[in-house]
Amino acid sequence: MPRPPTPQDPSALLLQEAVALHRAGDLAGAAERYRRLLARQPRHADALNLLGLVHRQQGDLPQALRLIRRAVALAPDAPVFLASLGGTLAEAGQLPEAARTLRAALAHRPQDAVSQRNLGQVLCAMGQPSAALEPLRRATALDPASAEAWLALAHAARELGLVAEAAEAAATALRQPELAAGLAAQARFLLAALGEGPAPDRAPAAYVRELFDQYAPRFDAELEGRLGYRTPALLADLLRENGIPAENRLAVLDLGCGTGLSGRALRPFAARLEGLDLSPRMLAEAGRTGLYDALHEADLLDFLPRHPACWELLAAADVLNYLGDLSPALAGMAAALRPGGLAAFSVERGVAGAYALGPGLRYRHDPALLRSLAARHGFIVLAEAEVALRQERDAPVPGQLLLLRKG
Ligand SMILES: C[S@@+](CC[C@H](N)C(=O)[O-])C[C@H]1O[C@@H](n2cnc3c(N)ncnc32)[C@H](O)[C@@H]1O
Repeated sequence: MPRPPTPQDPSALLLQEAVALHRAGDLAGAAERYRRLLARQPRHADALNLLGLVHRQQGDLPQALRLIRRAVALAPDAPVFLASLGGTLAEAGQLPEAARTLRAALAHRPQDAVSQRNLGQVLCAMGQPSAALEPLRRATALDPASAEAWLALAHAARELGLVAEAAEAAATALRQPELAAGLAAQARFLLAALGEGPAPDRAPAAYVRELFDQYAPRFDAELEGRLGYRTPALLADLLRENGIPAENRLAVLDLGCGTGLSGRALRPFAARLEGLDLSPRMLAEAGRTGLYDALHEADLLDFLPRHPACWELLAAADVLNYLGDLSPALAGMAAALRPGGLAAFSVERGVAGAYALGPGLRYRHDPALLRSLAARHGFIVLAEAEVALRQERDAPVPGQLLLLRKG
C-alpha cells in the first residue's frame, strides 16, 4: 500500500481517498479518483495497478491487463504489481504467462499466500496438479484461515488421487469460522465426491458458476481439442434421425449453453434460439458467436418454472450432470415446453440407483430410472442412444442421450 500522505501532498491525499473508497466497495468512486490522479501523474504505478484492479473487479479483464502491465513496465521487479498481473492473467485464462508472472512475484515475496494459491490454481487448471501441490500447501501454511486455499489444495489433491489429504483439506476449510455459505457448500460437495458424506442433490450453483467462469477463455479449445467433445453434434444427429427437420422452425432454448458450442449444433433447428447459463463469462463468449437471439443468466431450475409453455425444443448438452436429482429439472422442462414440445439432453451413464456423484465432481444417472422419472413428469421417450460424450484421462466417458416429447 502507498505511504501515508504529508499535508502538502495532494496526489497522495487523492490516492488515499481512492483507496478508502476502493476498500469500501465504491468502485466507480475509486476509479474516478485514480483517473484524476493519473491525469496529473500518468506514470503513477500504484494508481495504474489499482485502477487495473477496479477494472478486474468490474469484469473488464482486457483493460485491467493493459493498466497493470503499464505498472509492471514502470517497476518490473515490484512483487505487488507482478502478483496483481499474475492473478489477473489467471482470471483471463492466460495460464502459462500467469504461472511465469506469479513465479516471478513469489521469487521476490515467497510469503505472499494469495500468489501461492493463485499459482497452485493456475497449475491445476493447466493440468499439472502435482506441481500445484507445493504452492497450495505453502498457501495453507502461510494463511491457515483461508478456506479458499484449503479448498484449492483439496481440489489438487483429489485430482492426484490423494484422497486422505483432499478430505482433510476440505474438512479444514469447513471448520473455518464465519465461512461463507458458498464455500461451505463447496467443501461439503467435495467431501461427498471423496466418499465422506452424502451426495447433495445438485452441485452448488456458486461452484458451477466459478468453475465455468474460470474455464470460459479456454473452454472451446480444450473441449473440442484434447477432450474430443461431441455431445452437441450427437444431440443434433439424434434430432435429425427422429424426423425433426433442421429447417429453422422451432423456438429453442439451449439450457447451459456455455460458450455456444451447443448453439452451433442447434441453430439449424431454430427459428429463434435462446441460451441460458449460470456463468456470466460463458455467456459473454456465447454472445460473441452471434448465434443467439437472447441470452439469460440464470439457474435453469429457477428459470424454467417461471416461463411456462414458451419453447418447442429444450436442449441440454453436458449440463444435467451438474444435477443429481433430475426431478426438478424435468418438472421445469415439462412446464416450459409447449404441448408436444421436445426435450433433448445428455447424461453421464451410471450404475443402478437414481444418481451418484463421481470422483470428477459430476453426477451419473441410471437410464432406467431416468426413463421412469420422465414418464412421471408426463414425457414420452422418443429415442435414446448410448454414446461416448468425450475423453477423460484417455478413456471415453459413457453417456446416454435422450429425446423426450411432452405428452
Ligand atoms: C460442460 S458445459 C456445456 C456447455 C454447452 N452446452 C456445450 O455443449 O458446449 C456446462 C454448462 O452448463 C452450465 N450449467 C450447469 N448447471 C447449470 C444450471 N443449473 N443452470 C444453468 N446453467 C448451468 C455451466 O455454467 C456450463 O456453462
